[in-house]
Amino acid sequence: MKVSAAIEKRRSYRSLEKIEIGENVIKELIHASSLAPSCFNNQPWRYVFVTSPKILEKMKTSLKKGNEWAHEASCIAAVISKKDLDCVIGGTEYYLFDTGIGVGQLILKATEMGIVAHIIAGFEHKKVEKFISLPEDWNIISLIIFGKRSKKKLEISDEDRPERLSLKYVYSIDEYSKKLNKKVKH
Ligand SMILES: Cc1cc2nc3c(=O)[nH]c(=O)nc-3n(C[C@H](O)[C@H](O)[C@H](O)COP(=O)(O)O)c2cc1C
Repeated sequence: MKVSAAIEKRRSYRSLEKIEIGENVIKELIHASSLAPSCFNNQPWRYVFVTSPKILEKMKTSLKKGNEWAHEASCIAAVISKKDLDCVIGGTEYYLFDTGIGVGQLILKATEMGIVAHIIAGFEHKKVEKFISLPEDWNIISLIIFGKRSKKKLEISDEDRPERLSLKYVYSIDEYSKKLNKKVKH
């Protein structure tokens, strides 16, 4: 699959059914993440993949209202990192930025493999820290919910891609423009 095809195809689908996510699949996803660029090649992205039914059930209790769809997850990855794994330059802490690039590559690879990889931030961090026995100095940046796209209809359909900002609000040429200040309306 071409990169452009994966970019167009990737979606945060919520209607999911079970799919086998074994260690070989996990390794392919992590390989895609590990080839991402990072400050000084620091590679600050780390993942705890939860696949065992017992811990998966616990993880589901951490989901916030609105994320009940994720109860159908076949696997949940906690994306973790910490400041001291990466550069701090001019006051900017790059670990979040670089981990995001790694996750971006991982979710495109999942798309190519026919797997839905839906990032969420709506979960109780404290609970997840406990369930995966995470030491205090680490941050959980997000969870990634993995599954196979289901044809089951949801109350609020996930078929249409949420609208994007018009490109004119996303870039300017040669100098800053006030139009870059436009926020997405919800
Ligand atoms: C940091 C982050 C947090 C998100 N949190 C949630 C969430 O808690 N629940 C959810 O259903 N989707 C969540 N999403 C998915 C976004 O809603 C989704 O990416 C956006 O609406 C665009 O849709 P698309 O990914 O299908 O193109 C999150 C995405 C990101 C990157």
